[in-house]
Amino acid sequence: MPEARFRIKRWDPESDEAGAERYDEFTVPYDTSLTVLEGLFYVQERLDGSLSFRYCCRAAVCGSCAMYIDGRYRLACQTNVRHLTGDVITVEPLPHMPLVKDLACDMTDFFAKYEYIKPYLMRNSAPPEKEIPQSPKDRHKLDEPIDCILCGCCYSSCPSVWGEENYLGPHALLKAYRFEIDSRDQARRERLPRFDNERGAYRCHTITNCVEACPKELNPTEAIQWLKGAAVRRRILGRLK
Ligand code: SF4
Ligand code: F3S
Repeated sequence: MPEARFRIKRWDPESDEAGAERYDEFTVPYDTSLTVLEGLFYVQERLDGSLSFRYCCRAAVCGSCAMYIDGRYRLACQTNVRHLTGDVITVEPLPHMPLVKDLACDMTDFFAKYEYIKPYLMRNSAPPEKEIPQSPKDRHKLDEPIDCILCGCCYSSCPSVWGEENYLGPHALLKAYRFEIDSRDQARRERLPRFDNERGAYRCHTITNCVEACPKELNPTEAIQWLKGAAVRRRILGRLK
C-alpha cells in the first residue's frame, strides 16, 4: 500500500509563543487515491486529534480548505497527493494571514472587506414581483466572476495587502466588479465610492500574484483595472454634467 508523508505546520495559541510555529510529520497510507484533505482527516482521526483545519464541501466550491501546499496556493480537497512531486508534502496555512490555530487562519478582515463593497444586487426601485430579465449576452459577462469561492488565496498572495492593511484586496474588488457589470444592478453611485478611493482599486499595483494564486483560474487583476477605468470615467462624466 502506498504511503504519503505529510509535513504540517503547527501552532497552538494556548501552548505556543507567538511566532513559534513548528512542523510535525505524519505518514498516511492510502489505497489508490488520496487528497490532501483526506490525508488531514486521517491525521486528525488516527494520529493527532489536536490538528486544526477548515473544510466544508469537499468539492472545491466552498473555499474553506484553501492552504499553501508544497509552496503553492491550492484547495486541499482538489489536490491529489499523486499529482505532487517530492517525498514529503508540506502543508501550511495561507501565508501572511493571522492564525487561529495550525492550518486555520483568521478570516475576519477578509470578510469585513468583502461586506464593505456591498456584494449584492441593489435596485433603486421597489423589488420586482417577478424575476428581472437579463439577456444571454449580459449573463455571459458574469460567467467568470461568479465563480469566485472566497477562498482567500488571492488576498493572502497580494503584496499590496501585506503592505497596507486597509487595502480591500483582490477578492472584494473582484466581487465589486461582478456586481458593477451586472445589468440588473442599479447601485453604482452607492458602491462606486467604496472602491474609488485610496484603499480601493488604486491601491492595486498590478502585481498579479492574485491571478497566479487563484485555484479557480480567475483574473482579479483584470477586474480591478476595469474598476479603475470605470471610476475615472464616471468622475470625468460627473464633472461634465
Ligand atoms: Fe479565491 Fe480566486 Fe476568489 Fe480570490 S478570486 S477569493 S483566489 S476564488
Ligand atoms: Fe495585488 Fe493582484 Fe493587484 S496581487 S496588487 S490585487 S494585481
